[in-house]
Amino acid sequence: MARSFLKDTDFTEKEAAEVFALAHRYKKLRSAGRLDVLQGQSWGLIFFKKSTRTRLSFEAGVYELGGHPMVINASDLQLSRGETVEDTAKIMGRFLHGIVIRTFEQEMVEKFAENSGLPVVNALTDLLHPCQSYTDMFTMMEFFSAGEPDVDSLKGKKLAFFGDTACNMAYSLALSGGMFGMEVVLCGPEEFAPQPVLDGLFKEAGISKTFRFTSDPEDAARGADAVYTDVWVSMGKEEEKAERLKIMAPYQVNEKLFGLSGKNSIFMHCLPAHSGEEVSEGVLRSKRSVIFDQAENRLHVQKAILSMLVKKNRGTGGI
Ligand code: CP
Repeated sequence: MARSFLKDTDFTEKEAAEVFALAHRYKKLRSAGRLDVLQGQSWGLIFFKKSTRTRLSFEAGVYELGGHPMVINASDLQLSRGETVEDTAKIMGRFLHGIVIRTFEQEMVEKFAENSGLPVVNALTDLLHPCQSYTDMFTMMEFFSAGEPDVDSLKGKKLAFFGDTACNMAYSLALSGGMFGMEVVLCGPEEFAPQPVLDGLFKEAGISKTFRFTSDPEDAARGADAVYTDVWVSMGKEEEKAERLKIMAPYQVNEKLFGLSGKNSIFMHCLPAHSGEEVSEGVLRSKRSVIFDQAENRLHVQKAILSMLVKKNRGTGGI
């Protein structure tokens, strides 16, 4: 089976540090033109859910690395008419060189990796969003490092995440933050506390659990170096909207809550944001909001992830 990136912990800390160094190089050299890392390669970008940042950054990224991006709306595949995931993946394995998927169940990205024989990248599942969390680590490094982005700049830094802490973004930040020695505090209503599956992901990866959960927003925000939130109503949870808006209200990142964080803290959001719900307009648009840096960095970090997969899979067969 080819090396894939399905979970944050699928790269070692050393490999992830290499990804970040490469992302920094790609960011600096973007104007130099198209590269040949994916020359002659076709990558399928399969979307079962809506996307703006992920779709654009992967399509541009595969092109900039010299490859051919094929954006596929999952509803256009025979998969939507009953063809199995296994057969679909096997077929893709005969045509393509790699697959990027945004879907619902984590099991689906695993099945694609097992059956296609290709490197597969998780572009968001209900369980994890590792491309976003790696990008967020890189973005924090840019702000916390004295010189070039440095993984050591993350060590001991406090990242406070507010809202639904049983969601893919919270889990991926807990895992990635844990890999790089951050103190990750997940804060939200008890009903939306992390589930045992997160402990299982730490155990399976063999890394120590460095996050904690609290329902006290002031405790979480106090002295934080990065304050992060995500939409309160994730894709697929729309029928719970009214209940969620009510129960999450004390966890809105507004001027009062953000004011408790460190004096040089940054505000982060993976976007799209719902101003006036999980974050106030003032914090979202403040000088300390790095939301557009995060969005831009998806391109550079994902190009580095694809390059690392090509390097790791070189000489392992396949097309
Ligand atoms: N943050 C993120 O994944 O954005 P999209 O849903 O627009 O891809």
